Amino acid sequence: MDEVQYVDWNNSIQILNKAYDSGLFVLIIGPKGTGKTSLVREFAKSKSINLDSINFSLRTRESHLIGTKTLSEGTVSFDEGLLIKSMREGNLLYLDEINAAEADVLLRLDEALDDRRQIALKESTGEIVRAKDSWFVVATINPLTHSGTKELPPQLLSRFPVRISLEYPPENVELEIVKKYVSEKHESDLIQGIKLANTLRQAASVEELFYAPSLRETIAFGKLLENDVSPKEAAMIVFGNVYTQWGNIEFQKVSDIIASMFGN
Ligand SMILES: Nc1ncnc2c1ncn2[C@@H]1O[C@H](COP(=O)(O)OP(=O)(O)O)[C@@H](O)[C@H]1O
Ligand SMILES: [Mg+2]
Repeated sequence: MDEVQYVDWNNSIQILNKAYDSGLFVLIIGPKGTGKTSLVREFAKSKSINLDSINFSLRTRESHLIGTKTLSEGTVSFDEGLLIKSMREGNLLYLDEINAAEADVLLRLDEALDDRRQIALKESTGEIVRAKDSWFVVATINPLTHSGTKELPPQLLSRFPVRISLEYPPENVELEIVKKYVSEKHESDLIQGIKLANTLRQAASVEELFYAPSLRETIAFGKLLENDVSPKEAAMIVFGNVYTQWGNIEFQKVSDIIASMFGN
């Protein structure tokens, strides 16, 4: 399942390579489910570089990055966090949804990400940890329209001078991607499902709907078709029903669209 070949439809791997060779950190901007994580995994694989990932939320603490003191049998030691580990080992550090993190966490990151590529372990010995040459950082942010996302402070933004925008792909490319996960059998229904997804994305982008389906959903739609769910039912299950959480009017709007595209 994890072994699906990443479709590099907008040349992002090449940009990552150029950034890596230039020692410039990368920020990937785009909504959920547009392939950001898959892209970075593919890049790490192609470089044979180890990947350390942190998924940021409001609960992410400095200690996740830096480490925590532990006490065992009367001795205090320090369990180093992922940031320190990745710097020491020269790994690829993937900072997912970095704009969900709290300010104090971002401040600590900022220290490591500046040109000196080092950080003082003030939590333990005060040692200055310097990053290995191969250390590389890629971060993602969701567009600010997403609830719960905050603006990244400008100085932190400037640590990532290479920016890749990853939007939903064109319909023909999305079909190519979905077909990596399912057989060709249901192509015309797949095309229709992708069209529906894009109609909903468009409506969400002008705030006529509260939710935009991602590639995860078009792939799920394809998998249900493959397991003999009818196109109309699969569309309701994957694309329609989710809107009931915003009430009946929202749901009805989408059901009508599905009915018009897949028949009653
Ligand atoms: N270009 C692509 N090639 C292959 N699979 C893709 C591509 N883009 C997205 N996918 C698939 O779509 C789903 C969502 O992708 P993911 O990388 O998790 O998105 P994000 O990190 O942006 O939320 C995954 O199942 C992923 O494998
Ligand atoms: Mg992701």
